[in-house]
Amino acid sequence: MSKDSLALTDNRTGRSYELPIQNGAIRAADLRQVKVSEDDFGLMSYDPAFMNTASCASRITFIDGDKGILRYRGYPIEELAEKSTYLETAYLVLYGDLPTKAELDEWTHNITFHTIIHENIKKFMDGFHYDAHPMGMLVSTVAALSTFYSDAKHIFDVESRKKQTYRLIGKMPTLAAFAYRHSLGMPYAYPDNDLSYTGNFLNMLFKMTEVKYKPNPILEKALDVLFILHADHEQNCSANAMRAVGSSQADPYCSVAAAAAALYGPLHGGANEAVLRMLKEIGSKAKVPEFVKKVKAGEGKLMGFGHRVYKNYDPRAKIIKRIADEVFEVTGKNPLLDIAIELERIALEDEYFIKRKLYPNVDFYSGIIYQAMAFPVEMFPVLFAIPRTSGWIAQWEEMLLDTEQKIARPRQVYLGQDKRSYVAVEQREAGAGKAGPTKPKKAA
Ligand code: CMC
Repeated sequence: MSKDSLALTDNRTGRSYELPIQNGAIRAADLRQVKVSEDDFGLMSYDPAFMNTASCASRITFIDGDKGILRYRGYPIEELAEKSTYLETAYLVLYGDLPTKAELDEWTHNITFHTIIHENIKKFMDGFHYDAHPMGMLVSTVAALSTFYSDAKHIFDVESRKKQTYRLIGKMPTLAAFAYRHSLGMPYAYPDNDLSYTGNFLNMLFKMTEVKYKPNPILEKALDVLFILHADHEQNCSANAMRAVGSSQADPYCSVAAAAAALYGPLHGGANEAVLRMLKEIGSKAKVPEFVKKVKAGEGKLMGFGHRVYKNYDPRAKIIKRIADEVFEVTGKNPLLDIAIELERIALEDEYFIKRKLYPNVDFYSGIIYQAMAFPVEMFPVLFAIPRTSGWIAQWEEMLLDTEQKIARPRQVYLGQDKRSYVAVEQREAGAGKAGPTKPKKAA
């Protein structure tokens, strides 16, 4: 028997099996040979929420959640945050290596010259209600781009994929900024291609009547670092959505829209918005212990805390905490910071959080910085979606080129009714058939 294998005995039949182990995993499909009879479907693994299932092999991002390690293509996040730029990091995430100077120049040029959006997109934006959430606008308009670029359907054409990549990374900040200006009833500000990626984004958001907008270099740099930290995070909910939708061979605009929709939820990219609302609700340092008590009693969650993978301090949260000081030098301190620090201090000393290994995640401090930079809370998930676009495209492309991948289609364990006959409406009893499945509500 090979050492790299799993010996399995099915006690129902007494039969034994040997399943190969490769890269620390068995293949779930190998379980299908484990049957009680010839017509048995075979054994499946049951894994709600993919708690212990690898859905792909990937070479993009490495996380060691116990040690708090995050690397893109082998480079530690701390080094990239200190030395790289978002566009350079996006190139790394997408193509596997840091670009040469010439490659970086060409890449930057290609992104910069795809920042303008079709005038009809503006009309489309105008149709949104004045108080539409910018994330809803972003999700819809990025999907709408699919109707403007029919060449995007050629997903197996490498040149087409490159073109859509430039367009998506180039246009996401423009869509996001237009959504913001729409919500304020302000005229849209067009891209300024002389500026950096984040400098131009700030220009499209905040330009007033000045002829040339000059971004504050500290805020421009801080936003760039935040974008680096958000570029990719392996198989999270939105990357999984990107891969799943992309696996049906939908075009990348529709797949990015699906990924952004997954990001919108408060348990994922919407958490930064939820953190700010939570800190406001707490209101003062003195009320922190009372709030923590409520969380422990199952009345809500401590937003910005906990992670499926990190069972240690999220390395991105550490970097963000450092940037906060630089930003506050320019903007003045956000008063919510004191509440956040107190919340972190109390939570990290509390048995409930220690036992469950709940530490601050990327969203705990990012919102406080965004707010100090004058972004309204509704824009926070949007600020996550812009840089994550490079990660989504990298995950999508890796999935497309992986010969083992097929359309994503999980199995289920069916627990519903067995076969039964149709009952005419006059003969049905009141209440019958109304007992649909209900989800038992867990505290918190
Ligand atoms: N506050 C209080 N209790 C928590 C929290 C929290 N933020 N997170 C987890 N728990 C408890 C949870 O109730 C459970 O307790 P018990 O064992 O008694 O039932 C235990 O910790 C394990 O939690 P889980 O829900 O099984 O963990 P998960 O891996 O399914 O969920 C999570 C991960 C991020 C969805 C969750 O920690 C959470 O909801 N956090 C708050 C939302 C948040 O900050 N999300 C941003 C994640 S980072 C950005 C991103 O990449 O999306």
